[in-house]
Amino acid sequence: MSIRTLDDLLGEGVSGRRVLVRADLNVPLDKQTGAITDDGRIRAVLPTLKALVEAGAKVVVFSHLGRPKGAPDPQFSLRPVAGRLGELLGAPVHFAEDTVGDSARSTVEGLADGQVALLENLRFNKGETSKDEAERGAFADQLAAFGDAYVDDAFGAVHRKHASVYDVPARLPRFAGRLVLREVEVLSKLTGEPERPYVVVLGGSKVSDKLAVIEALLPTVDRLLIGGGMCFTFLKAQGHEVGSSLLEQEMVETCGNLLERSGGKIMLPVDVVVADAFAPDAAHDTVPADGIPSKRVGLDIGPKTIAGFAAALKDARTIFWNGPMGVFEMAAFAHGTRGVAEAIAKADAFTVVGGGDSAAAVRSLGLDESAFGHISTGGGASLEYLEGKTLPGIAALEN
Ligand code: 3PG
Ligand code: MG
Repeated sequence: MSIRTLDDLLGEGVSGRRVLVRADLNVPLDKQTGAITDDGRIRAVLPTLKALVEAGAKVVVFSHLGRPKGAPDPQFSLRPVAGRLGELLGAPVHFAEDTVGDSARSTVEGLADGQVALLENLRFNKGETSKDEAERGAFADQLAAFGDAYVDDAFGAVHRKHASVYDVPARLPRFAGRLVLREVEVLSKLTGEPERPYVVVLGGSKVSDKLAVIEALLPTVDRLLIGGGMCFTFLKAQGHEVGSSLLEQEMVETCGNLLERSGGKIMLPVDVVVADAFAPDAAHDTVPADGIPSKRVGLDIGPKTIAGFAAALKDARTIFWNGPMGVFEMAAFAHGTRGVAEAIAKADAFTVVGGGDSAAAVRSLGLDESAFGHISTGGGASLEYLEGKTLPGIAALEN
């Protein structure tokens, strides 16, 4: 089995051919203004798009944004993304108001060689995410009709068995884009023989999202540092009260088992920042992890924990980080995420940052992106890759 790449496609010659590119342009938008708050995912797909433009292809880009429910929903329109993509490419991007309707058809037909079109949000159509093969297939037929070849550069979505990721490539000559190749190349270093010590830092809100990856990583890593909202379920499993912090009660027993089996590899916070409310201006204090007052909510890891995590990262040779350590969007609760990010950046290690939130945190905290070996565009996708799962979007590219 083999996967052909963008270079193979360029080698065939694409001038005048219509090339469908699945991108992951699912960027965070400001809730009030709708403005794009982090364009990292748009930038990440530029190398593939530019190569196709320069080679004279008619480039048809499609993507999802957010989780609309299978019908048009203006707050999830890709229109602002088309504008930003055009700025970054230095050429206008023709935006289709629908995905497979009249607007999409005439937009694709009107493309000249070397021009780029972006179709409206794929998830405005039920067929995109349907579990029903026939429904997905019917939508994929319509999408595939817009292209002579298919390039997958949507690494952030390769873990989804969706029409644009899984069914369209079955209908066309298929190729992996530059971003997908780079992501897989980097992540495969982590699943191969990582240089040791190999330290993984996990945060984010839910243990249930991370359970499988924790299970998969425990035998492989030297240290596993856990912060973010998910740490409270572990603290509860250690017998501590967590006040009104995020808690997945049904996961407490599982976390207890993991701690028992971890052979001391799991490090949890020893202090946390607790607040009166989930608000940027809420009164807050640092308390020991075993002294969280009832009614207060833990929103960040404390300074002793930051120092402990930094020490655990200092001699690491390989680091994977997924998930913020606290509510970094609020300045008062961003210290944990910043402290850990800085410790990771300082380490003389091969570092991979995975997940939209951690990547956005690196950028929004003004940290130097180049201090990190690789910032993945995939959150769920990179976790599932590390779990060793078959990723539908990658499997679909095989010949
Ligand atoms: C993401 O941001 O996680 C990817 O774009 C995939 O989106 P999804 O989780 O809504 O499928
Ligand atoms: Mg996701």
